[in-house]
Amino acid sequence: MRIDVITLFPEIIETYVNTGIIGRALKNNLLKVNYVNLRDFSNDKHKRVDDYPYGGGPGMLIKPEPLYNAIKELKNDDTYIIYLTPKGNLLSQKKSNSFINKKHLLLIAGHYEGIDQRIIDMYVDEEISIGDYVLTGGELPCLVMLDSIVRLIPGVLGSNESIIEESHNDNLLEYPQYTRPEKFMGAEVPKILLSGNHKKIKEWRRYKSIENTIINRADLIKDNKIIEEFMKLKKTYK
Ligand code: ADE
Repeated sequence: MRIDVITLFPEIIETYVNTGIIGRALKNNLLKVNYVNLRDFSNDKHKRVDDYPYGGGPGMLIKPEPLYNAIKELKNDDTYIIYLTPKGNLLSQKKSNSFINKKHLLLIAGHYEGIDQRIIDMYVDEEISIGDYVLTGGELPCLVMLDSIVRLIPGVLGSNESIIEESHNDNLLEYPQYTRPEKFMGAEVPKILLSGNHKKIKEWRRYKSIENTIINRADLIKDNKIIEEFMKLKKTYK
């Protein structure tokens, strides 16, 4: 997979993708990431990329020409173009999973009040928001999305298990986890985790997952069977 990012701040993208797990994945050639500075595609002698919105209103918009020039340079027949914007479809694990088979993603990080609608109409395949809040620019949203996709590429994480077990697969939040020491400031690790009884540990984790989901994200529970299962497990693990 190749992921390109069009941005006004390539240094933000560069630093993040060359660090940690994604940095290692790049070194191991599990994917390619390429970032371009939108200003380099401006036709203007001052490298300007923004202008006032027609019809008035606050703020500035990114002009269509530099975006067109950048897209023309980066796009090929396999390219899927995503514009990160608060007015897009909400990003979810399911959404990220759906991008994993794309050969080439081209992400556009917006700035100011957004980009000229004609670029969206002509080139953008999907508009994505990372949440119901507004950030100062699209770099963090691009990185959030990139990160959530890249970790799904086989070989990027240590073992496949780490993908399957975590929050948001299965629509349940993750269970609590503990590491050494067994006793920390008087608080002990739940005894069941030290029991060696793997069946019981699995059941307890399932119980805690459902409990966490009920407390923090009840909206994720669509099936009443989960509640019934929880009530049953509660008799043993309360
Ligand atoms: N740009 C600014 N805020 C954003 C958000 N919440 N999602 C995607 N892009 C954005």
